[in-house]
Amino acid sequence: MDIRIFSAAREGAIYSATVIEQIIKNRAYPVLGLATGSTPIPLYYELIRMHQWGLDFSRVTTINLDEYVGISADHPQSYRYFMKRYLFDHVNIDQSRTYIPRGDAEDLEQECQRYDQIIQLNPIDIQILGIGINGHIGFNEPDVSLKSKTHIVKLAHVTIQANARFFESPGEVPEHAITMGLQSILLSKQILLLAFGEEKAQAVVEAVYGDVRTSLPASILQLHPNVTFVLDEAAAALL
Ligand code: GLP
Repeated sequence: MDIRIFSAAREGAIYSATVIEQIIKNRAYPVLGLATGSTPIPLYYELIRMHQWGLDFSRVTTINLDEYVGISADHPQSYRYFMKRYLFDHVNIDQSRTYIPRGDAEDLEQECQRYDQIIQLNPIDIQILGIGINGHIGFNEPDVSLKSKTHIVKLAHVTIQANARFFESPGEVPEHAITMGLQSILLSKQILLLAFGEEKAQAVVEAVYGDVRTSLPASILQLHPNVTFVLDEAAAALL
């Protein structure tokens, strides 16, 4: 596991964008695994800047980690809406090759299977991750069985509280989500986990130095051969 500590989130975002830029330039059909939340926003900003300087997204496929259950793609809090706003609408990507689970699918089990097929057909070159304050990655919450594939999860109370800031009230945060499983995440060729801010410091130190355990899903990343933690000084404070 590689750990890179930057003086500010922007520096970490620039580093991460540079790693992604190399993958986009060097692969014929690059596949990016993408994340939502506030953490990757500065990274997407840097990728948009790189596009303005000529970085070509026309051959890129993207696969997002997760989506809220019961929320349609055009809902302002949907992760599709988020991705369009912060990245897709600003680069020359073919949006029919940007995959995000459908939270409003009628048959959610079928949607999980459809998503697994997409991941299987498009092996992820690099997976971007944030981390929840309870150590979740994607929406793989602590203590769920180590479900390996795409599945439906009940969100932890702490996650609902943390994500309530994006909704009008905590009561509006969906209680369930559909998420890529830990095994699919581990199958990515390379992983960048980004964490910025002191509220992430405890989860980061446990993910890096703690026992590998389902109660802290990010600790599972210790099993992957090519993981980089991209941190600012506050998130790295307990290392
Ligand atoms: C959500 C997402 C995660 C993300 C986490 C942290 O729960 N499903 O993928 O890592 O939030 O969000 P933030 O980056 O806003 O702290």
